Amino acid sequence: MTEAAFGGSAEKISPEEVGLRYEVDGEIATITLDRPEKRNAQTFATWAALADIGDHLPQQVRIVVVRGEGPSFSAGIDLRMFTPEGVPGQGSFASSATLDSSTFEQRVAQAQRGFLWLRRPDIVSVAAVQGHAIGAGFQLALACDLRILADDARLCMKEPALGLVPDLTGTKPLVDLVGLSRAVEICLTARTVGAEEAARIGLAELVVTRDELDGAVRDLTAALLATDRDAATATKRLLQGASGRSLEEQCAAEAREQAARVKARFS
Ligand code: ACO
Repeated sequence: MTEAAFGGSAEKISPEEVGLRYEVDGEIATITLDRPEKRNAQTFATWAALADIGDHLPQQVRIVVVRGEGPSFSAGIDLRMFTPEGVPGQGSFASSATLDSSTFEQRVAQAQRGFLWLRRPDIVSVAAVQGHAIGAGFQLALACDLRILADDARLCMKEPALGLVPDLTGTKPLVDLVGLSRAVEICLTARTVGAEEAARIGLAELVVTRDELDGAVRDLTAALLATDRDAATATKRLLQGASGRSLEEQCAAEAREQAARVKARFS
């Protein structure tokens, strides 16, 4: 089954500015950044559409694949945001600078909604990254549970070099994955991390050739789908909570989840 792209708020936004394709095939949803001629640059419309997909994800979906059309996964925020004219209908950084702090922070929180749902325990999200993943592109890959990289992948947290901070949910997963020191080094130098290094420092689960990327995503998806859904959800919930709990608290959480599992499975 293939579903039409966007309901709710995203309906009002021109498809060109959204730059996404969205398909559901049984238990697998695929979101494709689809503005390859602009290297899949993202706008507020893209993030509203992502949030909308999360809000309306069919219940049967267990895997969400996030991929990019063309040579790059995503070149990050649309650079028109840095111009006085901005992105038609969506403003610019200059116009955002006139907003009061609370309104501005609400706008950022809205954009972040597009990324946050990808960590939901009842799904597994997989980013398939080729070419450049810069700024918002890198953060979108970081928002996913797992990352498979083509060997030409090039990751860059460019925001600090542009006088900004990464604010699309990427700083926490980056620190969780590579540690504070490496995250500081990557962000404050805004350097490019290649695929081989990304795998070595924990930013990627797997690196394959560009030709193998789709096949690798299919293989991983099949392996993930072979696991019982409720057990997978409960296990992901446990793992996600682990770093915020003491060993004792985590043991108690394991016992709680297992009690529910055993009841569901054996009574
Ligand atoms: N926003 C809008 N348009 C973009 C963006 C972007 N972020 N990135 C690329 N494009 C456009 C280019 O303007 C060009 O358009 P044109 O053909 O109409 O001139 C087209 O995409 C192709 O770009 P090239 O630079 O020719 O493509 P190439 O493959 O050689 O380079 C690369 C790709 C490295 C991604 C380069 O385009 C680039 O550095 N882009 C800007 C990256 C950036 O600074 N992003 C902001 C990060 S901060 C944040 O996301 C919050």
